[in-house]
Amino acid sequence: MTTDEIDNPAAYWGRLWASGRRYSPLTDAETALLAQYTGPGRGRLALDIGCGDGALTHHLAGLGYEVTGLDCTPVAPALAEPTAGPVQYCCADIEATQPPPLPQRAFALITARLLFAFIKDKPSFLDRVRSLLDSGGVFWVVTPMADRLPPEHASIGITGLDEELLTRRWGTVRATDLGTLRCYALRAWSADDTETRGHR
Ligand SMILES: C[S@@+](CC[C@H](N)C(=O)[O-])C[C@H]1O[C@@H](n2cnc3c(N)ncnc32)[C@H](O)[C@@H]1O
Repeated sequence: MTTDEIDNPAAYWGRLWASGRRYSPLTDAETALLAQYTGPGRGRLALDIGCGDGALTHHLAGLGYEVTGLDCTPVAPALAEPTAGPVQYCCADIEATQPPPLPQRAFALITARLLFAFIKDKPSFLDRVRSLLDSGGVFWVVTPMADRLPPEHASIGITGLDEELLTRRWGTVRATDLGTLRCYALRAWSADDTETRGHR
């Protein structure tokens, strides 16, 4: 399935979740990396885009973030484990013309796990992510790499060109491979970076 074949993401993904389809679970190696790059939440705001059944959303709440899980279909978050933590869900297509109806506007951490390959207009998506990130905030992306997948599954991964686009225009970029997945910690420019660059 390529992005061009997904006309209606809510219907497409809703059907898959309802049919019992599930995706690569979080691993200890992945959560250890995430903790290394993002640190404890201390009540800061996080947004998990394409949150699915909320596994990462709940993990972030456990790290102390106040988290919003966003997904285009209500079917997936309805499967989430109940939690006592500060978690809320928002049903919206992140690629819709209008920005998602989120109560907050500036997040310290934005995550997108197993999503980027399915985004149709990647430059606009990245602009939207940047507009929702705090200065110095981190965009955490976990994605399969197309060239490490069998050809029939390559469309669920990103290409070298996608990676080039994803990693442009950040203050710092860190990438770590975990099997067929690559994890990116992309830190937005902060006022300090701008000042430092200005004094070079
Ligand atoms: C492969 S699943 C991954 C789910 C979860 N992040 C995980 O790691 O298990 C992709 C998720 O992204 C959601 N999604 C796809 N396109 C989206 C869009 N344009 N806006 C919001 N959510 C989207 C789907 O509904 C689905 O739940």
